[in-house]
Amino acid sequence: MTLAAGEVNIYSYRQPELIQPLLDAFTKETGITTNVLFLDKGLVERIRAEGANSPADVILTVDIQRLTEAKDGGVVQPVVDNATINKDIPAAFRDPAGDWFGLTTRGRVVYASKDRVSQDAITYEELADPKWKGKICIRDGQHSYNIALFASMIAHHGAEYTEKWMTGLKNNLARKPDGNDRSQAKSIMAGECDLALGNTYYVGLMMTNDKEPEQKDWAEAIKVLFPNAGDRGTHVNISGMALAKNAPNKDNALKLMEFLASGEAQKIYAEQVFEYPVMPGAEPSDIVKSFGSIKPDTLPLIDIAKNRKQASELVDKVGFNEGPAM
Ligand SMILES: [Fe+2]
Repeated sequence: MTLAAGEVNIYSYRQPELIQPLLDAFTKETGITTNVLFLDKGLVERIRAEGANSPADVILTVDIQRLTEAKDGGVVQPVVDNATINKDIPAAFRDPAGDWFGLTTRGRVVYASKDRVSQDAITYEELADPKWKGKICIRDGQHSYNIALFASMIAHHGAEYTEKWMTGLKNNLARKPDGNDRSQAKSIMAGECDLALGNTYYVGLMMTNDKEPEQKDWAEAIKVLFPNAGDRGTHVNISGMALAKNAPNKDNALKLMEFLASGEAQKIYAEQVFEYPVMPGAEPSDIVKSFGSIKPDTLPLIDIAKNRKQASELVDKVGFNEGPAM
């Protein structure tokens, strides 16, 4: 039997191989063994079903949506005023009540055709300009990555503006929303569109993809434009962590969270997944740096979480997923 005091149990939406190097470093430093349960869905439901006996100590996930779901689903407990955790995580990237903490960010950027798009700067607002008619590709408007971006537009401009903007964007689409972020880069390579919205880390994943080397060609066809670099900055989402509600190894869980929050760990983590550390000034990997530098929109993630429902309703209202009007 292993000693409960020497363990910490992690429920993760992140692939185990992405977090293992960090967990190994944690074990080396503290002697605490880490157990990872990887889930690709149903994490909140699982912890709820396990109830008071849930072995979950720390939750690791991506996207403000999933962190909010964990909070709203009642499977987390707050970590309040932990100076070690808060030191390297700016307030905009953590829950004010301490129910979740961001560790890395990913930008939602514009992938632009190297051959057909000469401009090197762009704004989200401009994507609704008729000059891009028939030129833009995007995945499902209801996907959490797009919903978070649309929610940020509501936070900055209000719902009325966002509805008009979303209609303009829809009318600029080359086709109905379809595929994932990477397949939009493929569509640009194929000449189907000139611009697409996609997350930054997929560019790193495509550039280094030895399993499916054709993805390197998709990445080669595009350049990354960081929207709104000249004003409020580029919309970012986070990967993050939370303390599970009934954490049986709470002290070890807090040690792990303190470890992961440190600027140094953020850097290792971010390099591993082609993301950005949330700590201001901490550098990402050389591959990520090769895209150019990001100025993240500092809108608190909590404001994005708040506007998600309205954003989703607007997607339906404007018929975004039906694609451009004929
Ligand atoms: Fe993703």
